[in-house]
Amino acid sequence: MCTAGNAPMIAPSILSADFANLADEAAAVAKPGATRADWLHVDVMDNHFVPNLTLGLPIVESLLKATDIPLDCHLMIDNPDRWAPPYAEAGAHNVTFHAEATDNPIAVARDIRAAGAKAGLSIKPGTALEPYLEILRDFDTLLIMSVEPGFGGQKFMPEVLEKARAIRKFIDAEDLTLLVEIDGGINADTIEEAAEAGIDCFVAGSAVYGAADPGQAVAALRESAATARAHSDI
Ligand code: DX5
Ligand code: ZN
Repeated sequence: MCTAGNAPMIAPSILSADFANLADEAAAVAKPGATRADWLHVDVMDNHFVPNLTLGLPIVESLLKATDIPLDCHLMIDNPDRWAPPYAEAGAHNVTFHAEATDNPIAVARDIRAAGAKAGLSIKPGTALEPYLEILRDFDTLLIMSVEPGFGGQKFMPEVLEKARAIRKFIDAEDLTLLVEIDGGINADTIEEAAEAGIDCFVAGSAVYGAADPGQAVAALRESAATARAHSDI
C-alpha cells in the first residue's frame, strides 16, 4: 500500500519572498481554503555549509509571532548539533538539518524532538540514501534536495527522483511514518513527476513567490500534484 495518502502538501519557501515584508508574504499564503500553504519553508544558510547567507533564529522568532502557518526550518548550516535545537525550542514545527553536516544525526534528531519539534534529515543531490535508511526511525521528515542547496530559482534535477521512489518503497515495507519532502526547482512543469515518485510535501520558492498571486500558485501546485499522484502506480 502506498503511504503517500493524504493531500499533497505545499511549503512555499520565503527565500524567494520580500525579506523586508515577511509578515505580508506569509499572509499571502495563509488565508483559509485551497490557497493556504501547509507549511512555510524557511531556508537558514550560514555561508559555510553553503555559499550563501540568509537569516537565523531572531527572524524565525519574529515569523512565529507573525503567522500561524507551521514553520518548516531547513538548516543549511555547519554544526547543527549546536544550532538546530534552538529552532525547535523557539516553536518551529519541523527542523531539518543536513546529513552531510554532522557525524551524529541521531543525537541531533533526538535533541530536536526533545525540544518539541519534528526532526528532518536532508540530503544533497549527490548524497546516497542507503547509509541513512537505518536511522530514519529517528526522523519525522526526509528532505530530498533536487538542486544543490544555496540558491533559489535553480533547475530541477530529475535524477534525484530515484531516491524518492526508493524511500517510498522502504517506508511501505518497514511501515515507517516518515514524510518525504522535495526541495529545489519545483514548479508547474516539474511537480507532476515528483508527485508520481511518491513525494508528500513540495517546497516551492520562485514558483510561489515569483507568481502574481502566491496563494493561487499554492492551490494550482497542490492540484497538479494530486492529479499526478492519482495517475501514478506508486
Ligand atoms: C535552496 C533552498 C530552497 C529554495 C528553493 O537551497 O533550500 O528551499 O528556496 O527555491 P526554488 O523553488 O526557486 O528552487
Ligand atoms: Zn530549502
